Formats: sequence, structure tokens, C-alpha cells
Amino acid sequence: MVLGATGGIGQALASALAARGGQLWLSGRNGQVLAELVRRLGARAVPAELGHELEVQALAAEVGPLDLFIYAAGAVVRQGLRELDAKDLERLFTANLKGLTLALKHLSFRPGARGVVLGVYPELVSVPGLAAYTASKLAAEGVLHVARREFRREGVRFCLVRLPAVATPLWAPFGEPPKNALTPAQAAERILEGALADPLPETLEVR
Ligand SMILES: NC(=O)c1ccc[n+]([C@@H]2O[C@H](COP(=O)([O-])OP(=O)(O)OC[C@H]3O[C@@H](n4cnc5c(N)ncnc54)[C@H](OP(=O)(O)O)[C@@H]3O)[C@@H](O)[C@H]2O)c1
Repeated sequence: MVLGATGGIGQALASALAARGGQLWLSGRNGQVLAELVRRLGARAVPAELGHELEVQALAAEVGPLDLFIYAAGAVVRQGLRELDAKDLERLFTANLKGLTLALKHLSFRPGARGVVLGVYPELVSVPGLAAYTASKLAAEGVLHVARREFRREGVRFCLVRLPAVATPLWAPFGEPPKNALTPAQAAERILEGALADPLPETLEVR
């Protein structure tokens, strides 16, 4: 299952996973994009707002136990600390942290399942204007550290993927992505190469 499947990287992951076969569940908020993915990939979709616990709970009940869970939801806000808007801050922490935490609370996993979370290179994002983004992504890493211990008995392993710039709508606040950004398809292939490898790396550094 891919959460954030309607995003730039999420859509590319969905296509790459569909090509590999197996039952594929997709979730996001944009119903139009989800419907198009279902039509094109033969996947199943459950729309959900990841900040609403009841929606996450309903999603988890519908999809049942998972073998692979990829958290590709996220948001960015480009605001200096003096300008930070409280609503934007909440939206950002919901997408990058709360959604992940609620998903881990409610999803169920088959033994040997893999959880994959898309993260950052801290040194690339710790720049003026990205305090809240950096904080929320590093907090998600903290959740993952603890999840590894709490889910060990269930046989679930987790991988943090550090990504360089990938050309997606996430870059909208900056005008456009950097020239050397990966395409979403390139990023998805590199993510899956690591996420499906044996043994699963704890950290996957995509370059
Ligand atoms: N792009 C990069 O350069 C880059 C680099 C490093 C790490 N990452 C990480 O990779 C992940 C994916 O990024 P992306 O570039 O693909 O971003 P994106 O194109 O902006 O996609 C973001 C996704 O998150 C979903 N989302 C956001 N808030 C949500 C909420 N409250 N509830 C449910 N879904 C929500 C969006 O759903 P809807 O569109 O349906 O609303 C969309 O599917 C993020 O975690 C990001 O931090 C990206």
C-alpha cells in the first residue's frame, strides 16, 4: 500500500509497484487522481485525510494486513520562523508526522512486512525557511526509530529512505525544482530497489 499515492513520487511508486504485480492499495485525498490511478493500474483505492483518525482507522480496516507499506505523503512550507503561519504549521506536521503516526497506530501487518518512509538528507533541508519542514521530517525519523522496537515482535521491519531533490509538486513554493532533480520515475525505481532488497536496509540513501 502507498499512502500519498496521488503525489509526484507516490504516483510513480504506484506505477512501478503495479508493474511488479500483486494486490496494490493506494490512498490520497485527490479523488480524481486516485480514480485515474485505479483505472490505469488496476489498483484499489481508499481516499483518506491522514490527519483524521477515524478516516485512517477506516482505511486500515478496509485494506487489512499488509506486506508492504510506503509512506509517501508529505508537505512543505517555505516560511521563515518569524513568518510561520500556525495553520500551515499544522498542515505540515499533519502530512509529515501525524499521518505517519496514526497509520502506524491503526494499520495491521503480516509477519515479515516492510514499512518504508520517505525522508530527507537533513543537511540539504536545514536551511532558512525550512525549519518546520526539517523539524517534522526529523520527528518522523524519531517515530521510525521507536516503531522498529515496538513492531519487532510483530516481525515488521522499517526503512527510512533519504531522498535528494525529486521534481514533483512539492517544489511549488520554490518556483521549480533544481535542475539536477531526479524524475519521480527514477526516484521510485531507486526506492523500490532498496525497499524490496534482502535484507531490508534500515536507511536507504538515494542519490
Ligand atoms: N520531492 C522531493 O524533492 C522530496 C525530497 C525529499 C523527500 N521527499 C518526501 O517524499 C514524500 C513525497 O513527496 P512528493 O514530492 O511526492 O510530494 P507531493 O507531490 O507534494 O505529494 C504529497 C502527497 O502527500 C499527500 N498528502 C499531503 N497531506 C495529506 C493529508 N493531510 N492527508 C492525506 N494525504 C496527504 C498528497 O495528497 P493529495 O495530493 O491527494 O492531497 C500527495 O499524495 C514527502 O514525504 C516528502 O517530504 C520529497
